[in-house]
Amino acid sequence: MNENPMVPDLDLPEQPSQHALSGVASMGHAVVPGQIDVSHGTILYLEDVTVSFDGFRALNALTLSIDAGELRCIIGPNGAGKTTMMDVITGKTEPDSGKVFLGQSIDLTRMNEPSIARAGIGRKFQKPTVFEQHPVWENLELAMKTDKGWLASLRARLDRAAQARIEETLVLIGLESEARRLAGELSHGQKQRLEIGMLLMQQPALLLLDEPAAGMTDDETMQLADLLNHLRGTCSMMVVEHDMEFVAALSGESGKVTVMAEGRVLAHGTLDEVKRDETVIESYLGR
Ligand SMILES: Nc1ncnc2c1ncn2[C@@H]1O[C@H](COP(=O)(O)OP(=O)(O)OP(=O)(O)O)[C@@H](O)[C@H]1O
Ligand SMILES: [Mg+2]
Repeated sequence: MNENPMVPDLDLPEQPSQHALSGVASMGHAVVPGQIDVSHGTILYLEDVTVSFDGFRALNALTLSIDAGELRCIIGPNGAGKTTMMDVITGKTEPDSGKVFLGQSIDLTRMNEPSIARAGIGRKFQKPTVFEQHPVWENLELAMKTDKGWLASLRARLDRAAQARIEETLVLIGLESEARRLAGELSHGQKQRLEIGMLLMQQPALLLLDEPAAGMTDDETMQLADLLNHLRGTCSMMVVEHDMEFVAALSGESGKVTVMAEGRVLAHGTLDEVKRDETVIESYLGR
């Protein structure tokens, strides 16, 4: 079983129809992809989100928002609740209380995982989830949004457009020369970039990446930072990471970094600002 609800299991010959252009019903709420209201400049808004596991508060009144177009890095000690926050955003974990909104009006707490993915949130898990037995280009093809019923008549045009998008994505993720190789033959770093490419084929509005640089060599880590920096403007991103050089490469001098600890925001500011914060030094970075 793969963890990603947007990626079909390997024995499926084709991706299930995703109603990309027709809107999706999600537990009574119609959400039309591409119709995220960011008129107030916010792509993601969490307010007072609490999640308890047997009385232990993994998230404790967490309040946080991401601007449309922003690449936000989230750091914090093990157990701070970073992955749990992504589980809540993607509908994997239901919060006990609190608000979780995509844009102004899409209430994510009322939607299930596939609906949230279709609404425009892509999630990259730590372990690469690619179809090892399929060529790289086919991985991208399988990941693409299609609505077979509606698009059947536009087939030829779509195929050309789809082909162009696959080629563009191959260049973006730096795998154009590996297009015909089996995904299983790629290095760890290449697989991670391929999975990001697969997520991009779904044209997400917001990408969540949980420790994407884990297990990568230094070169692979910097290649990944280049890729994510390149995606600015294409989609908003939330990147959870422990590798501070990677965080520095993503946040630059002015990008905002959020530090989480004990289920809430401990500090927020530029990387330099949070690095100088006494509470952050105490609880995470050390002296
Ligand atoms: N399904 C669960 N059942 C019980 N406890 C859980 C569950 N998921 C997470 N937790 C607990 O919630 C806390 C937050 O975990 P989480 O995985 O969100 O932390 P994290 O910030 O992602 O840590 P790391 O940096 O190690 O990945 C931890 O104490 C963890 O043990
Ligand atoms: Mg985690």
